[in-house]
Amino acid sequence: MFDNTAIEVKNKIRKQLSGIGNLPVIPHIVTEVSAMLDDDRTSASDLCRVISKDQAMATKILAVANSPMYGLPRRVATIEFAIVIIGLDHIKSLLLALSMIEAFKVRNTTDWNHNNYWKHSLMVGAAAKKIADDLHYPKSGEVFTVGLLHDLGLVVMQKYLNYDYKQIVDLVKKDGISYLNAEKIVLGYTHSEIAELLLERWNFPSFINEAVLYHHRPSLAEKNPVLASLIHLVDYMTQKLEVGSFTWDDNYEFDENVVDILGFGNYEYLEQFMESYKQLFNSHFESLN
Ligand SMILES: [Fe+2]
Ligand SMILES: [Fe+2]
Repeated sequence: MFDNTAIEVKNKIRKQLSGIGNLPVIPHIVTEVSAMLDDDRTSASDLCRVISKDQAMATKILAVANSPMYGLPRRVATIEFAIVIIGLDHIKSLLLALSMIEAFKVRNTTDWNHNNYWKHSLMVGAAAKKIADDLHYPKSGEVFTVGLLHDLGLVVMQKYLNYDYKQIVDLVKKDGISYLNAEKIVLGYTHSEIAELLLERWNFPSFINEAVLYHHRPSLAEKNPVLASLIHLVDYMTQKLEVGSFTWDDNYEFDENVVDILGFGNYEYLEQFMESYKQLFNSHFESLN
């Protein structure tokens, strides 16, 4: 990860993004919640009071807790209950992730549908958490966060590198290649690398940054290939099972090493596994509308 080319890529992205003004800073609510979480005496109701002050954040937290993938029999109506469902050890990363998505919110244009992006992010987060639980991955909360953030680099690209962004869209239309390859041709790097740089700046834990960086090639992850593979698999499943209409993942190239990394044995078995989630994925997606 720290070879010369990786450093060169980072310097290039830094240079291109720095010319465009200040990038968002971490919102007050996140620093406040982080400090509270460091204090053992903090209870769910203390956190609830702080989070409820930020209406946009509170709404998003409720959306997360009410995801059908959590499989709760009744609606989570209060922030306090949502915090209990999500878990105190996960709330900080989740708040950071949601703040980041909020900070980079962009308007719809002819070639960007922000609502589709948000639904795809929420879908991948919730579905990856569900699959992580089903495969007995011990920390499924962090899987949700990585899923939420995995394509954040695309929004940043659309907002701050709009000229290149348009060229990428045109190239895909003209040559029928994947967006990922078009990004490499136009920029020399991809949305995964842009996101990693920003997550580092916001002090996310390094295993989260790594999983976002390698969500299109999880077998390259060194710290936690399982985490990156879970996101990659679900990202791929949204295409294969046709859940949502997020065109940026069209022509998705599957990293077959995932079969071994996640212990499926062979691809045929994995295919059956994926198919068995079709109904759940679709009903979850519909609930986001
Ligand atoms: Fe992606
Ligand atoms: Fe994606």
